[in-house]
Amino acid sequence: MVSLSLRETGEYRRMNQMTQPSITNEVSPKKSVTVEEPAADGYQTVGEVRCKSPFIVAENVDVYYGDNHAIKHVTLEIAKNQVIALIGPSGCGKSTFLRCLNRMNDSIDSARVTGRITLDGQDIYSKDLDPVVLRARVGMVFQKPNPFPKSIYDNVAYGPRIHGLANDRAELDDIVHTSLERAGLLKEVKNRLDEPGTGLSGGQQQRLCIARTIAVNPEVILMDEPCSALDPIATARIEDLMDELSEDYAIVIVTHSMQQAARVSRRVAYFHLGHLIEVDETNKIFTNPRHKLTEDYVTGRIG
Ligand SMILES: Nc1ncnc2c1ncn2[C@@H]1O[C@H](COP(=O)(O)OP(=O)(O)OP(=O)(O)O)[C@@H](O)[C@H]1O
Ligand SMILES: [Mg+2]
Repeated sequence: MVSLSLRETGEYRRMNQMTQPSITNEVSPKKSVTVEEPAADGYQTVGEVRCKSPFIVAENVDVYYGDNHAIKHVTLEIAKNQVIALIGPSGCGKSTFLRCLNRMNDSIDSARVTGRITLDGQDIYSKDLDPVVLRARVGMVFQKPNPFPKSIYDNVAYGPRIHGLANDRAELDDIVHTSLERAGLLKEVKNRLDEPGTGLSGGQQQRLCIARTIAVNPEVILMDEPCSALDPIATARIEDLMDELSEDYAIVIVTHSMQQAARVSRRVAYFHLGHLIEVDETNKIFTNPRHKLTEDYVTGRIG
């Protein structure tokens, strides 16, 4: 949504050449700061962690993998009908935080999540909420397209079958077609629905995975670097799709591309060493970041 002349930051190249700065509440001089309630370790996220009509609310979330404290007291509200991008250097906790939102960390033995995350007011870590049902409401698309070793049709029909969303074959056909259409893939595959999903190109596979995700009517779509394995044309298609889908869903995307975050998101959250350093409207983060670390990252000084 914001056009930028920022160069891609070459994060990975520089990463290992840098000594990570310590986390302080260091803010660029002469900039005013909205300070949220202090976190237990003294760090306060800069910017606007709250939003109008929040749909997901994460309050004081900490994640540990054994002794590794990977997410530190993160508070963030996420709204429907818009895209929020999570950015930050490799290892800062973006994927870890994303996975908290649909309890994907449950499957990692060493992972421990504390704090509170609600989805439309309901505690997602409550014993009353079946994680399988949660993951239908909060779908996820991964970095590497991962179609099941099944036909294109069965990939998309998988979720609706498990969740009993269709009463008969005609209804299932309808869900499969609509989902493929919405994912911008129907035209390319309508005559080969019985062929394996794994036989599609990378970009097509990723759109198949998006079709599979939206087939169960989710409310939130989590995307962890969904375009990093795709060429620019396939990337542009997925970005257009995100824009369309954000009319109906809350979309949370992790990306290493500043340009992508600027193109697709309404808000940006910048993570560093497990802290949520700053969150705000996308144009503010890229044109007038308040925290020194955010500024250094978006201008390519740190990766
Ligand atoms: N399954 C896991 N088991 C143990 N530690 C993990 C696991 N996944 C992540 N971590 C650790 O948690 C921290 C945050 O990792 P995470 O994968 O969330 O970072 P990231 O910001 O997504 O990085 P990248 O941009 O490289 O994908 C890192 O120190 C990482 O080593
Ligand atoms: Mg990651």
